[in-house]
Amino acid sequence: MDVISVIRAKRDGGELSPEQIDWVIDAYTRGEVADEQMSALAMAILLNGMNRAEIARWTAAMIASGERMDFSALSRPTADKHSTGGVGDKITLPLAPLVAACGAAVPQLSGRGLGHTGGTLDKLESIPGWRALLSNTEMLDVLESTGAVICAAGDGLAPADRKLYALRDVTGTVEAIPLIASSIMSKKIAEGTGSLVLDVKVGSGAFMKTVEDARELAATMVGLGTDHGVRTVALLTDMSTPLGLTAGNALEVRESVEVLAGGGPADVVELTLALAREMLDAAGLKDADPAKALADGSAMDVWRRMIAAQGGDPDAALPVARERHVVTAPSSGVLTRLDAYGVGVAAWRLGAGRARKEDPVQAGAGVELHARPGDEITAGRPLLTLHTDTPEKFDYALEALEGAYDLAPSGTSYRPTPVVLERISYPVG
Ligand code: URA
Repeated sequence: MDVISVIRAKRDGGELSPEQIDWVIDAYTRGEVADEQMSALAMAILLNGMNRAEIARWTAAMIASGERMDFSALSRPTADKHSTGGVGDKITLPLAPLVAACGAAVPQLSGRGLGHTGGTLDKLESIPGWRALLSNTEMLDVLESTGAVICAAGDGLAPADRKLYALRDVTGTVEAIPLIASSIMSKKIAEGTGSLVLDVKVGSGAFMKTVEDARELAATMVGLGTDHGVRTVALLTDMSTPLGLTAGNALEVRESVEVLAGGGPADVVELTLALAREMLDAAGLKDADPAKALADGSAMDVWRRMIAAQGGDPDAALPVARERHVVTAPSSGVLTRLDAYGVGVAAWRLGAGRARKEDPVQAGAGVELHARPGDEITAGRPLLTLHTDTPEKFDYALEALEGAYDLAPSGTSYRPTPVVLERISYPVG
């Protein structure tokens, strides 16, 4: 087998054989295929695609590159969710303890933010003392004792994806549907969950800008999960506007705790409950009532135990950025658009995100929204507050917000976009 013939085959629009796929993934993981060769192959895949059989084999080869976890000894059924990433997407934080409070075990292996989308681990690390890195034994202990664990995926899980994802990130090849689907699903299948709910984001703040692309990604992932014996369902959800009223690490933890306390923004509560119902259904817990678990404080109890079990202090004050800048409404009227991408880039530039994997993030940085599309606002009233420890970044963040919102004359009617756009389950297509 030689890598140049594999690259040429895909470059010329051909189908890769199972043997070629197994070999190239294994050889890349071992360092025999160089980064520049894998970049060329990733670009050929982005340009020419892969068929169903190729995607299935590519995913299986990435799973086989590392270890598989096994939760079968747990006393509860497992349920997991994965989001393709968005702005203000803090849903994992209230969702994991909520679903655990309803009787499932939730092993949530999460990532850090890169670019304009935030990462769950960065958010939780703003809680003083909280640790993302757990051994497999510690992870199982937290899961068994509290019902939920949110932690970093160990190095042994799909190492081929770890290498390939970092490479795609710097070679403009993240947005290929076969590569996104196989990347996400290899990790989820290797993790060993019994059921999986995918939150596939659509809109300016998401990888998938159109419903058609999101539908194709969702259907591909649902097919892959189902073929590997994981009960998999996908919801297509709106990411044209940020979720909730905050984008930034500690700001989002605060909002998540509000949801667990029975309050919080309506869209965050709606999506948390919709995903919780899907997860409980997929785990076979059809009679559970997540709305009750939010209202009666049982989800909050699990949150507190889960944070404490990972060294965090659920009562500690969250970090606050040193400087603020308020953006006011230039005129009175109805806010008809608040662009998720613009807000995400602004939060990132303020220090909430990172440009390179090794960069630090600021816990308190981010953007707070004072209005959502559909709200009437008065000229001069606060629209957004920017938070940062590095005020020299304000101008750069404000540039990202130029043209990011529209105000229509007072009284203009506004049709809200639904939070959940579509549901995709097996059989698909
Ligand atoms: N998240 C992943 O884990 N992989 C991708 O390719 C994109 C989003």
